This record gives sequence, structure tokens and C-alpha cells, in this order.
Amino acid sequence: MITSIAVVGAGYMGGGIAQVFALAGRDVVIADVSEDAAQASLERVRREAQQFEADGLFPEGGADAVATRIAAAASIEEASASADLVIEAVFEKIDVKHEALTRISEAARADAIIGSNTSTISITALAEAVSGPERFLGVHFSNPAPFIPGVEVIPHEGTDLAHADAVEALLAQSGKMGARITDATGFVLNRLQYALFHEATQLIDEGVADAESIDAIVRTTFGFRLPFFGPFAIADMAGLDVYRFCYESLQSAFPERFATPVVLEDLVEDGALGVKSGRGFLNAAPESLPELVAYRNRAYVAMQKLIDELGPAPVRY
Ligand SMILES: NC(=O)c1ccc[n+]([C@@H]2O[C@H](COP(=O)([O-])OP(=O)(O)OC[C@H]3O[C@@H](n4cnc5c(N)ncnc54)[C@H](O)[C@@H]3O)[C@@H](O)[C@H]2O)c1
Repeated sequence: MITSIAVVGAGYMGGGIAQVFALAGRDVVIADVSEDAAQASLERVRREAQQFEADGLFPEGGADAVATRIAAAASIEEASASADLVIEAVFEKIDVKHEALTRISEAARADAIIGSNTSTISITALAEAVSGPERFLGVHFSNPAPFIPGVEVIPHEGTDLAHADAVEALLAQSGKMGARITDATGFVLNRLQYALFHEATQLIDEGVADAESIDAIVRTTFGFRLPFFGPFAIADMAGLDVYRFCYESLQSAFPERFATPVVLEDLVEDGALGVKSGRGFLNAAPESLPELVAYRNRAYVAMQKLIDELGPAPVRY
């Protein structure tokens, strides 16, 4: 069991990750470029935690857990020396990460697990700097770490998968949901997020809509579904035959970007049309359709109530 954790790079993400583990009852040591920087981060995460608790965002006792469980170290080496797990969250530059990972892996216990919070850099490329790379993997939190549940868990080819299991267990005990994926630049989250961003910028360039309208359409239409259903569940519910028809028009206008995916073509040819035929990307039987529709409707109405209650985000275009 992982009980002691070091976070190296105590900035925005590192501070949030330290809070997550302190709330989960773990002892956390943070390190940064200097002892003063680590101490300043510690004071910031303590202040933040007090505010979060006062605002009802952290549970009662959360600020106290952060104050008593997180400590600042004088150096990367001091933080890493006794930790069961070290998470690296320094700047997103491969040379800075390589240097930090070399120092971490030289100072850490041989049986310590080492994770990187990199957003986009290949874990295989980062592993080159780690002595004992079988104990190294990606552990990619999202911002703000205390409040976003999903974490990508990214072993590289040489990672001992028992370490990925241990990290996933820790994440589950910390109220997070680890999703294991294969190492590839951008991983899943950023490949998808940047694909959407890329297309959104093209729509602006082509004069189809401005940024405000695009954001509004995303939030109020398909983005409204995303807390409940991913792209495959959505496609299965829409009907894969419907998706194929839509691809025909998209493909005629944008043949390279929107060629019909082979997997979609194959499923439709095979009669697997999604929920209505009981086979598609998911295996939801047609009898489960009423239950699914009822859940979907309840979810969307609850979502709209939440948005009404919170009011619009204070975003200015
Ligand atoms: N900000 C996000 O939305 C986000 C989301 C997910 C992942 N990430 C990833 O998390 C990592 C950190 O991002 P951030 O947003 O927290 O950045 P940040 O600039 O807030 O924090 C980085 C911290 O690392 C410290 N640092 C830099 N070099 C160091 C070194 N050699 N040794 C020790 N500490 C060092 C800096 O002083 C700083 O405190 C990056 O890899 C980033 O891609 C960021």
C-alpha cells in the first residue's frame, strides 16, 4: 500500500495533487526548485484548502488534513528519499523533466514507484532518464486536480504493471478514477481535446461562427451529454447507421478529415447499429433501452437545473 508520497514541482498541478493525497489520509512531501519555493507553495496550498473548506468544496477537516499532512522539503532528493510514490509535476519541457526524473530516481528507494504528470510528452521518452524504468509510468491528473475525478494511468512498454495496479488502487482510495491507456503522444485526453479545439479554430477561420457561438453550441448541445456518455455510447444511442449517413455528407465536403471510419463501416455492414440492435460499440440489449432513455432524460434535466442554480460562468468574449 502506498502511504507516503512526494510531489516534485509544487506549482499549480503539484499543489493540487498534494491536496488530493492529503485528503485521502496520505503523508505528502512537496519539493520545488528551492526550499523557499517549496515553502511558498506549502503556504499557498494551505490557504487554498482553508478557502475550499470554507466554501464547502473540501469536506470538514480537509484544511486540517492539508495543514498537517503536507510538508515542504529542502530538495528533490530529500522529498524523494523515503516516499512510496514520487509524482513529478515540473514544467512541461523534456529536458527539465529528464533532469528532475534523474534526480528523483537516484534519490528514491529502489522499490518506490515514480510517476509523471506530463500532459503530452511520451512516457517512453521520459523513461530514458529514470534509473529503474520498470517503476516509472504516467499519472496524468486534470486541472484542477482536487475537483476533476479522472486520471490517465500510462505505463510504458517496460513498466511493471503491478505498479500501475498500485497507483490505480491509490487513486480509487483518493476518490479518483484511473483509466489505463497505452503510451502515445497526447494520450487520450489531449488527443481528443485538441482535435475538438483544432476543428473549432477552423470554424472560426472559415467564418462559420465566432468563438462565443462555438462555445455556446458545444456547451448546450453535444457537450451537455459528455458528463454522462462518451463518444461511443452517444454514437450507439444515435444509431451507427445514422452516423454513417452523416459521415457521407461530412466526407463529401472534407474527405481527408472526415473519411468514414472503417470500424463504423464494418459494424453497420454487420447489422450492429448500436442500442437499437443490441450490438454496436457497446453491448446494450434493446430491452435496456427504456431504462437508458429514462436515465438520460433524468440526467439532462438535472444538468440543466445545476446550470440554472450555478448561473452562467463569468466568461467574457
Ligand atoms: N496546468 C494544467 O492545466 C495541467 C493539467 C494537467 C497536467 N499538467 C502538467 O503538469 C505539469 C506541471 O504543470 P503546472 O501547470 O503545475 O505548472 P506550474 O508552472 O504551475 O508548476 C511547475 C512547478 O515546477 C517547478 N519546477 C520547475 N523546474 C523544476 C525543477 N527542476 N525541480 C523542481 N521543481 C521545478 C516550478 O518552480 C513550478 O512550481 C506539466 O507537466 C504540465 O503539462 C498541467
